[in-house]
Amino acid sequence: MSKRILVTGGAGFIGSSLVGALLQSGNHRVKALDNLSSGRLSNLYFWMDNPNFRFVQADLTKLSSITSAIDDCDTVIHLAANPIVKIGMENTKIDYDQNVLSTYNLLEAMRKSRNCKKMIFASTSTVYGESKIFPTPEDYGPLQPISIYGGTKLACEAIISGFSHMFDISCVTLRLANIVGQMNNHSIIHDFVIKLNNNPRILEILGDGMQTKSYLHIDDCISAMKLILNRIDDWKNETFNVGPGDTITVLDIAKIVIEELDLNEVTLNFVDRFDGRGWKGDVRRYWLDSAKLKSHGWMPKYDSKEAVRRACHEHYNLQLVRPE
Ligand SMILES: NC(=O)c1ccc[n+]([C@@H]2O[C@H](COP(=O)([O-])OP(=O)(O)OC[C@H]3O[C@@H](n4cnc5c(N)ncnc54)[C@H](O)[C@@H]3O)[C@@H](O)[C@H]2O)c1
Repeated sequence: MSKRILVTGGAGFIGSSLVGALLQSGNHRVKALDNLSSGRLSNLYFWMDNPNFRFVQADLTKLSSITSAIDDCDTVIHLAANPIVKIGMENTKIDYDQNVLSTYNLLEAMRKSRNCKKMIFASTSTVYGESKIFPTPEDYGPLQPISIYGGTKLACEAIISGFSHMFDISCVTLRLANIVGQMNNHSIIHDFVIKLNNNPRILEILGDGMQTKSYLHIDDCISAMKLILNRIDDWKNETFNVGPGDTITVLDIAKIVIEELDLNEVTLNFVDRFDGRGWKGDVRRYWLDSAKLKSHGWMPKYDSKEAVRRACHEHYNLQLVRPE
């Protein structure tokens, strides 16, 4: 059925890919809202003339700028956030503003809206903190995030749950693995490609390289979101993990990137200042159990290794300088 969808953070990595996928399916009206703090309008240029698309530049930290934006929509896909965990070390307020305050404002606008009562929320694996069960299911507890980013995402989940029960707002929360692919300018792959582009002989790796995580290709992330969107009426307040069935180490990612860029004799320089972690707040190991979403028909096409390899190729448009 045709929907009127608001994608917050629509000019970002996942948002712009999702906007494209929704418009390509041809039967939805899509509005992207973004303050362009890290997102880029150029990510959406292709869709600007599409009659089913509108872009709204607005800041979710300001309630007044959201109210009119949501009113002609029935569903919000809430992606706007600061997605970079380590920023919380330098600025402890940014995650609070971009996650907690923004999500509260959005829910408050939805509470007052007559039309807009459904939400899909992009949460994260980091809400689990350092899990002791692998793969980690959705009902794992206690949830003890080790970063401000993870803590504020968990706070958002809790606020959403409260609003959902008190004001009849339906919400599906997706706890996403690391998403990689085209247009991602803040992934480990982007970081490695940029570093190797600057110096093809040395690759600096943050941590001991043994951090072990799941990496999901953007196409599989979008297919999960589309499935949830199509079935949104089935759920009132539900949470799903969204990850591939496996994990990969940071060292193996480095090896894949080096191989895919056709480089050799690269010296790996490990910067291990935080007990093997890349930075404070970096979860050393996670692996999501996505059986619940799979039981509803979702099947990722790529495992972590394939997702990384594909994403690496999608970064090839960067001009690579090879050593003489
Ligand atoms: N990329 C990943 O690996 C990953 C993993 C788990 C969860 N997530 C979550 O998915 C969502 C999207 O991530 P992404 O990788 O596309 O990030 P992104 O930074 O590319 O996109 C986020 C967008 O939100 C916008 N934004 C930020 N604050 C805003 C505000 N106050 N008002 C309006 N717009 C605002 C930014 O300009 C940006 O375009 C985020 O909520 C993130 O926490 C991402």
